[in-house]
Amino acid sequence: MAGMILMTEATLMTEASPAPAKPHLPDAQTVTQVTHWTDRLFSFRVTRPASLRFRSGEFVMIGLMGDNGKPLLRAYSIASPAWDEELEFYSIKVPDGPLTSRLQHIKVGDEIILRPKPVGTLVHDALLPGSRLWFLATGTGFAPFASLLREPETWEKYGQVIMMHTCREVAELEYGRKLVESLKDDPLIGELVGDKLHYYPTTTREASPLMGRITDNLTSGKVFADLGLSPMNPEEDRAMVCGSLAFNHDVKAVLEKFGLHEGANSEPLEFVVEKAFVGDGI
Ligand code: FAD
Ligand code: A2P
Repeated sequence: MAGMILMTEATLMTEASPAPAKPHLPDAQTVTQVTHWTDRLFSFRVTRPASLRFRSGEFVMIGLMGDNGKPLLRAYSIASPAWDEELEFYSIKVPDGPLTSRLQHIKVGDEIILRPKPVGTLVHDALLPGSRLWFLATGTGFAPFASLLREPETWEKYGQVIMMHTCREVAELEYGRKLVESLKDDPLIGELVGDKLHYYPTTTREASPLMGRITDNLTSGKVFADLGLSPMNPEEDRAMVCGSLAFNHDVKAVLEKFGLHEGANSEPLEFVVEKAFVGDGI
């Protein structure tokens, strides 16, 4: 009898004070996978909103709820292709960065905010047809190409694709290297890729098999010689560029010297450029 009374009291208590519900973020998506590549780089996957349509290469705003109760959002390239049922992102960890000082600690099951409004210029629609496509990236600028390398349209439209990725150190190339390596075994695009891909990863501050800045390797002709390709020309070549403002600025000048012109969604031409981040002073 005493036990029954206790049970009833416990039940009443539970009903009267329910456990506080987990706060639900606006535009919330759930983290499904996190991989740390270096102390400055990580990638993660999240659930994809059923209504989200995007073109491979585009970016969205993602983030966390700020301490002031307002969403703290930053632009992020979607690193997964348009056909993937989840979304992947490849991120820097800025130690005192408002977002990434916290985002770097996310775990599977956590929620992030994702505004489902994709935009961007690194899309196939912004280029005129061509036969060789150059992806030129530094650092996390690899992210949109992680999407485009897994996009069937890339391989259907071009006879050769050259992925140039440059970082200071070897470990910073690892996410890109693994992704490129996985393409040949990909059930969807492995066959499409065939022998069309030339991967040209370089470092600038640590010894590795291939070295040097992308701008220098294009200007000197080293990359063409190493890969056995003819120099760039506006009839055959198309390019997509993603790096720091300084990198984008300098690559643009190199591509223009080869006779290529910058295009946009509204005016497709021979190359397009997107910022990998803002903040290096140009
Ligand atoms: P912030 O206050 O935003 O940045 C602090 C400083 O950190 C910057 O001034 C800059 O010097 C440096 N920094 C910021 N981002 C980077 C970076 N990616 N690489 C090197 N240094 C950086 N970041 C990603 O990590 N992955 C992406 O896919 C990505 N896509 C972007 C797409 C666009 C169009 C733009 C404009 C930016 C993109 N960024 C990306 C940068 C991103 O929006 C944030 O700047 C980054 O997440 C850091 O946020 P934060 O609040 O921690 O620091
Ligand atoms: P470097 O080591 O010679 O500066 P960061 O980490 O500063 O964003 O640089 C990422 C990579 O991009 C580095 O390998 C760096 O080479 C290279 N890089 C930086 N600025 C430029 C530029 N203006 N043109 C070409 N490559 C650049």
